Amino acid sequence: MEKIISPSILSADFANLQREIERVQNAEWLHLDVMDGHFVPNLTIGPSVIRSLRQVTRHVLDVHLMISNPLFYAGEFARAGADLICFHLESDSDPSHVIDKIRRYGKKAGLAIKPGTPASALTPYLSQLDMVLVMTVEPGFGGQAFMYEMLPKLREVREIVDRSGNPDLLVQVDGGVKAETGRLCAEAGADVLVAGSFIFGHEDPAAQVELLRQC
Ligand code: DX5
Ligand code: ZN
Repeated sequence: MEKIISPSILSADFANLQREIERVQNAEWLHLDVMDGHFVPNLTIGPSVIRSLRQVTRHVLDVHLMISNPLFYAGEFARAGADLICFHLESDSDPSHVIDKIRRYGKKAGLAIKPGTPASALTPYLSQLDMVLVMTVEPGFGGQAFMYEMLPKLREVREIVDRSGNPDLLVQVDGGVKAETGRLCAEAGADVLVAGSFIFGHEDPAAQVELLRQC
């Protein structure tokens, strides 16, 4: 299966977001990092930015919630036009309740794990999910170095996903993904590669998307 590329706008020019996303028309998805200054020590965008982006693009909007209370906010992001809402297992909300809420809005649900969380923690939820996200940096900032020690966990996640009996479940990786680390992630079983600085930190973002796809 061809890998899905999801450019993270965290490394884009926020004064020109529409222009920036037009430069990655060759990517299927767009990764939108939401941070609340509490779950992670950084603040980014909220539903109003996503609502505006929804008006100007047909990308699949892949929303990554790095927030403490995804149960409270999931509906807001669904109404804003997210296609897929991914939240963290380490948040304060009960994962099953958040997944149910996302589904009630007719959206796809993803569950993310930080580097310190084992693959097995995902197991109880696999049948309810559309995607799992293996973080390959500590969430919070773009431009960090890829944690190579996450590769065995990624392989383990691939195995438990394959054994889950849920054929549509995707495995996403996020953090430090560049040509070489993207290739390693693809080999380890990732279906969706998120990349921020590798794509938007370059003068030709579309060419970077192609580079990743070919790795
Ligand atoms: C980090 C975010 C990532 C970030 C990745 O917490 O979840 O999506 O944008 O940025 P790079 O690809 O630069 O590591
Ligand atoms: Zn992200």
